[in-house]
Amino acid sequence: MNLENFAAETAGKFERKFKRKPEWIVAAPGRVNLIGEHTDYNDGFVFPMGIERYTVIAAAPNNSRTIQLLSATNGGTATIDLTKPIIRGEPSWANYVRGVIDGFIKKGQSIPGFDAVLDSNVPMGGGLSSSAALEVATATLLEEATGFKLDPVEKALLAQKAEHDFAGVPCGIMDQFTSVMAKKGHLLLLDCRSRTTELVPLTDPGITILIVNTNVKHELTGGEYAKRRAQCEKAASILGVPSLRSATMPMLEAARGRMDDVIFRRARHVITEIERTLEAAQEIRQSHWSQVGKLMYASHLSLRDDFEVSCSELDLVVDIAREIGEAGGVYGCRMTGGGFGGCTVALVQSGLSGQITSHIGRVYQEKTRIEPAIFSSRPGQGAMVLK
Ligand code: GLA
Repeated sequence: MNLENFAAETAGKFERKFKRKPEWIVAAPGRVNLIGEHTDYNDGFVFPMGIERYTVIAAAPNNSRTIQLLSATNGGTATIDLTKPIIRGEPSWANYVRGVIDGFIKKGQSIPGFDAVLDSNVPMGGGLSSSAALEVATATLLEEATGFKLDPVEKALLAQKAEHDFAGVPCGIMDQFTSVMAKKGHLLLLDCRSRTTELVPLTDPGITILIVNTNVKHELTGGEYAKRRAQCEKAASILGVPSLRSATMPMLEAARGRMDDVIFRRARHVITEIERTLEAAQEIRQSHWSQVGKLMYASHLSLRDDFEVSCSELDLVVDIAREIGEAGGVYGCRMTGGGFGGCTVALVQSGLSGQITSHIGRVYQEKTRIEPAIFSSRPGQGAMVLK
């Protein structure tokens, strides 16, 4: 469903629930990362795009000191009392909203009471940043409700802080930055150290970005993510650099005797992944699709073997894609997002994308007994106010 229809549907749900029309409708997209994984919290480069899947919020003031939320995605409701300090609580999906509200309050804003319906077609827990989409949609709504406009970097950082403090995930800045700043028809090359972005066009109709959701989510994600972050920080401190962005492979090789093998491999992933990301941006600018594909496969192997954040289902999709190969229309494929389940991203020839989809779907299901969800997306637009 396109965004316009999805937003109209959400507005209809608001009207049925709250018996009036919404005053504001906002949307923020999920993201898929083409390459540059687990590099954002190491001050490196990432290369994501917004996807044409959104979290939409329809809302209107209610002249009270409470916020009433209805999640059309899971049918749940939540109430937030604005006369009390905003703290984490149940239901847990509302914590993303609470965190962003808290961020606005800490910036000195007074939040009016409102009613809202939230809906999303970003797959939940699939590594496509459904939580960032909700945080950024909430921030966009609060900009409208308070009249207090944040600059895009500040907005992304406020949303990231909500994730840290209210969801307990020590994430980097990629997801929230992308949900705020994505541009239709472009990939976003983001330098996580300087927080500057460069838009790289991806408009060739012959090229399709195919996303395969393995529909598995292995537990431990939160804890393993924090562990990886700590291991990267340890590597940086042994190397005597502020972050792994400042490290090089010769530096790491020279320090091999001073760190255990796990720390060495974590650092090797980050250092080589930052290089691959910059190379991929260069190759995309020249439409060198085979080269981009090779970098994507290399990224996957590094995430699988050195960073150890893949899983058998993600590896299977990448293996099937590799078997199809360029002759069958697949340039490259890799896991995307935090890992331990979720999605792969593939760069494929548009003309063969239907065939590729059914082949991957069939073989994956035969081998795992799990039905995957496969869809393509053009680079979508970042957060927007629709009404
Ligand atoms: C999650 C985090 C991001 C990033 C990726 C891995 O999506 O939220 O900040 O670290 O994992 O690249």
